Amino acid sequence: MIPIVEAIHVVSVVIWIGGVAFVTMVVFPMILRMENSLEKVLFFQGVEHRFAKIAKAMVAVAGITGFWLLYLTDEWRILFTLRGIGPTLMLIVWAVYLLILLFEAKLFKIIFKGEAQQDTSKIFYRLTVFHWFVLGLSLLAVLVGVWAGHGGI
Ligand code: HEM
Repeated sequence: MIPIVEAIHVVSVVIWIGGVAFVTMVVFPMILRMENSLEKVLFFQGVEHRFAKIAKAMVAVAGITGFWLLYLTDEWRILFTLRGIGPTLMLIVWAVYLLILLFEAKLFKIIFKGEAQQDTSKIFYRLTVFHWFVLGLSLLAVLVGVWAGHGGI
């Protein structure tokens, strides 16, 4: 059972984190180069709105299979210890995304109201930095997860 659940877990992570990497490395540089503010906002909201649905589904699959793996491998016992650094980091990254997705509508309202209408470049620069930070954290979870899961620790 473990190999099948782990394979589904990794596939969901690939689609989800791959999407985040695409948005960060391809979509944001395109937006930063656009001239028109309205064009920037509409393009961003179109892409993000569509990707949010995929991300939500993948976060759900990764979460269900992740908790299932914790149970199957008995690794819940080593959560929040050095030996359990792999699954612990995964859980933290997952929780961060869950919060972002749950409060997405509120975040968008805050981000695109007021200040954003005057200075979209500044907002998209901040969003780019934020996406790089979340992507870095996700890739760290993948790196440490594979390293720790294959005898690295
Ligand atoms: C609720 C959230 C999650 C839980 C409870 C969880 C738990 C687990 C467990 C128990 C395993 C198998 C055993 C192990 O290798 O330690 C595993 C494998 C894996 N997880 Fe997660 N995970 C979660 C989310 C994530 C996230 C967000 C990522 C990526 C950012 C991720 C990436 C991976 C990878 C790449 C593997 C395969 C490691 C290997 O090569 O063995 N997981 N996960």
